[in-house]
Amino acid sequence: MRTEAQSASETRERAALAPRPHRVVQRVRETRSSVTLILAPVEAEEALPPGRPGQFNMVWAPGVGEVPISFSAIDDSGLQIHTIRAVGPVSRKLCAVRPGDVVGLRGPFGSTWPVDAARGRDLIIVGCGIGLAPVRPVIHSVLADRDAFGDVSLIVGARKADDLLFREELDGWWQRREIRVRTIVDQPSDDWRGNIGVVTKELQRIDFDPDRTQVIACGPEIMMKFVAEHLIDRGLNPGDIAVSMERNMQCAIGQCGHCQLRGYFICTDGPVFAWPRIQPLMEVREL
Ligand SMILES: Cc1cc2nc3c(=O)[nH]c(=O)nc-3n(C[C@H](O)[C@H](O)[C@H](O)COP(=O)(O)OP(=O)(O)OC[C@H]3O[C@@H](n4cnc5c(N)ncnc54)[C@H](O)[C@@H]3O)c2cc1C
Ligand code: FES
Repeated sequence: MRTEAQSASETRERAALAPRPHRVVQRVRETRSSVTLILAPVEAEEALPPGRPGQFNMVWAPGVGEVPISFSAIDDSGLQIHTIRAVGPVSRKLCAVRPGDVVGLRGPFGSTWPVDAARGRDLIIVGCGIGLAPVRPVIHSVLADRDAFGDVSLIVGARKADDLLFREELDGWWQRREIRVRTIVDQPSDDWRGNIGVVTKELQRIDFDPDRTQVIACGPEIMMKFVAEHLIDRGLNPGDIAVSMERNMQCAIGQCGHCQLRGYFICTDGPVFAWPRIQPLMEVREL
């Protein structure tokens, strides 16, 4: 006979596996290949809890499939906000939805960026390509309580200027000088007046105190590896570097093994990890 606790846990598991219908209330084109979707529950009582910076929802495109997508902003009133780049069948379908269309959501899942650990300290945030979306809620948290943090630098990398997300918001942050914003692109267009190269080049220009700096980095794994190695060479404690890992996912609740990376399930142990936990896995070939 099942105990009450077992039944309650099964109910929670079923709920975690059942997508809840959400209507697209706004679709903002960010770049040629990415959009931000603002989604509201079709039934108010089906609203999901708000996520926290670094966490993700499983987003279901009916008839096509379901993929993990981080929160690109956090809303406490039941709206779910995601920025998605079209790379394959599911993400392409999600980028093509229109206001009024319905998608399924379940979540929030996963670990969070160490925003609280950064309070009272300096913070370097690195976001490359679509990797700027998962770190954006950290920037919002900092700006909502600016005095709680020391110096804050944001380094944004992209292949081309046209691939930069949240252009207006970046300009606003840069103009208000509440945080230091540096953008760098690999392949400049003729009218690009900013920096050219990779994010580690921009990092070299930043002075930081290794004893009071927290780093948050999101983007291609090779970029996160170079960022971590560069900062550690300059004296930063590896435990003060947090990165977010990506793997294909199915259940998102640690049951199917789809996202397993050696001893970790990225969906429940991650996606945000302190660098010392993930560094040994960066040597694994399939990474
Ligand atoms: C925790 C987590 C958070 C994520 N957050 C976001 C997010 O906020 N926004 C977002 O757009 N994506 C995010 N992703 C990535 C997203 O889940 C994948 O892009 C998506 O699963 C691709 O599914 P698909 O069916 O569209 O394409 P697939 O058929 O799975 O892939 C199509 C092709 O694209 C390649 N590909 C797949 N994913 C990526 C990728 N991320 N970058 C480059 N090439 C890729 C594949 O190797 C394949 O060649 C996140 C992933 C994880 C694990
Ligand atoms: S997605 Fe199933 S265990 Fe992580």
